[in-house]
Amino acid sequence: MKRSTLELLCCPGCQTELTLRDESGNTGGDEGSLFCAHCERSYIIKNGIVNFIDLQELEGPNQRFARFYNRWSRFETIIDRLSFLPMGGERKARTEILRRLELNNGRVLEVSIGSGGNLTYLFESPEAGDIYGLDISAAQLTNCRRLGTTRGWPVDLFLGRAEGLPFKSDSFDSVFHIGGINFFSEKKKAIDEMIRVARPGSKIVIADESERVARNVVRLLRLSRSTRDNKVDTSVPVHLVPETMKEVRVDGIWKTHGQYHGYCLEFRKPG
Ligand SMILES: C[S@@+](CC[C@H](N)C(=O)[O-])C[C@H]1O[C@@H](n2cnc3c(N)ncnc32)[C@H](O)[C@@H]1O
Repeated sequence: MKRSTLELLCCPGCQTELTLRDESGNTGGDEGSLFCAHCERSYIIKNGIVNFIDLQELEGPNQRFARFYNRWSRFETIIDRLSFLPMGGERKARTEILRRLELNNGRVLEVSIGSGGNLTYLFESPEAGDIYGLDISAAQLTNCRRLGTTRGWPVDLFLGRAEGLPFKSDSFDSVFHIGGINFFSEKKKAIDEMIRVARPGSKIVIADESERVARNVVRLLRLSRSTRDNKVDTSVPVHLVPETMKEVRVDGIWKTHGQYHGYCLEFRKPG
């Protein structure tokens, strides 16, 4: 983790500033812990990844998906390649979303970065800036870090929940999310958090499978059983975007055989 990143971080519970503790030698912020004086909680930094969650404390779909990705992360790259094939390939499918970002050499946050499937395309841009990624799965982040280290891409990674981001308000020039929100435990909270950490005037981009595809995933994974009311809302979460947001739009994406397999929701935080 870059030393300068410390200035962006706060406690995900109470948003209090964090202090770096018990660093082991001159590791440049890759090992040690961050301490919240308000909650009296410590967050461990290991191999450059700051850990803001305890798997046991996660609830509902969040715990289920964290476990799922911890188990299957090593196959993510191949699964992505195969699942994007019908949509004209992974490059086409990902850039259909990523070209909407306003990078401007600023700070970019990917919420649910996974194993880093978007990094290739972000770092191809001369305007990539500083990239930060958060995910709920430790295995995904380990694989993402490995990819970043192998390719020489400087990415700061955080193990956390989209519903409680460990960043100070107005920190990022661009915030985006691809592929997880349909099944987040608290979608509204996650959207509010993306808005909170985005700089005023910046664009927020959120993409996932279409309602039809998500309903099939619910059936396939028998997700409705894991929710209290036995019903998973797979609708495009545009109704959860606060009315104060500007330039709200939803587009169908990943079109094959005349049908859209995904949606892209974008809007701007008022300046
Ligand atoms: C399909 S993968 C997409 C990964 C990456 N965005 C991509 O485009 O390749 C979905 C990711 O969402 C993460 N995820 C699921 N629920 C989450 C939550 N509540 N907060 C943060 N990440 C979450 C999973 O761990 C997984 O890595």
